[in-house]
Amino acid sequence: MLKKLVFLFVVASVVLTACGGAAPAEPAAPASNAPFGAASCAPNCTYADMVLCYPQLGAESDWRTANSASFKETADQLGVKLIFSDAQQKQENQISAMRSCIQQGVSVIALPPVVETGWDAVLQEAQDANIPVIVVDRSVTADPSMYATHIGSDMVLEGKRAAAEFNKLLPNGGNVLELSGTTGSGAAVGRAEGFRADLNSNIKILDSQTGNFTRAEGKPVMEAFLKKYEGQIDGVFFHNDDMAIGAVEAIKAAGIQPGDLVMISVDGTRGGFQLMLDGWLQADVECNPLLGPQVMDLGLKLMNGQEIPKEELTDEQTYYADQAEELLPTRKY
Ligand code: AHR
Repeated sequence: MLKKLVFLFVVASVVLTACGGAAPAEPAAPASNAPFGAASCAPNCTYADMVLCYPQLGAESDWRTANSASFKETADQLGVKLIFSDAQQKQENQISAMRSCIQQGVSVIALPPVVETGWDAVLQEAQDANIPVIVVDRSVTADPSMYATHIGSDMVLEGKRAAAEFNKLLPNGGNVLELSGTTGSGAAVGRAEGFRADLNSNIKILDSQTGNFTRAEGKPVMEAFLKKYEGQIDGVFFHNDDMAIGAVEAIKAAGIQPGDLVMISVDGTRGGFQLMLDGWLQADVECNPLLGPQVMDLGLKLMNGQEIPKEELTDEQTYYADQAEELLPTRKY
């Protein structure tokens, strides 16, 4: 009887295995929210051990150029091997660059996301490969357990700072226009949110259009605004200096003089400082692109298995036209 039972058990197991049913499970894959592990050199990893992947989102602005340079120069100085690519504003290019880095088994990925959404799958792939991801500059909507940390500017605060300037300069209210950054980007979403949250109720946003953070698109958007809202505009909020530079060409061509409109921008680049010197901008809200050293420091800590904060926001300020002459010669970007 016992022999018969054993025989039946063996037959049943073979059949189930062949059908792919209840075969003995392989050890489970790491849980999706498993903590990031340290590198094999931990706790003694040095910058010479680091291979850092930086799938840059593009080269749309002076800010971006300075940000790329900061990563390249810092990597050179520290002896970090940098895998740098330019996604030309396309999320799919950033994702394939990340996948290639995962395949190469890099130590850390630093991701400046072109837009906020759509990162879950590739972040999961990095996590499954035990590669920590540092989200740089703009934010993502993915759950924070999907990446190691976020480092960059407080984009909502930047919008609030811009609103504070309009509140000061248009105490009796007025009509303003907004030249917004790339649609769906953390920078544009945050700045728009902060701006609306703090703008006085007597200041009306007449219209908001994207100029994609570029000079080339800032100009035609401003031309269209000037045509459509002729005689109604009191101020313009630019989400970055490059769009302001492009727009000023259109504003000049329309015969508007420096100081006729209240104009506030974001970034604090040399180009923005020059606009302040020339009387076009009254204030420029800082957004600091020089993130290379901080990111590499955090990356090394992660490789060595050290705890790091979940978010590091850059300490920034607002610059004013009367500071431009003194500060412009020493601006690094
Ligand atoms: O994400 C930062 C923004 O991106 C900067 O304000 C802008 O200039 C850049 O292109």
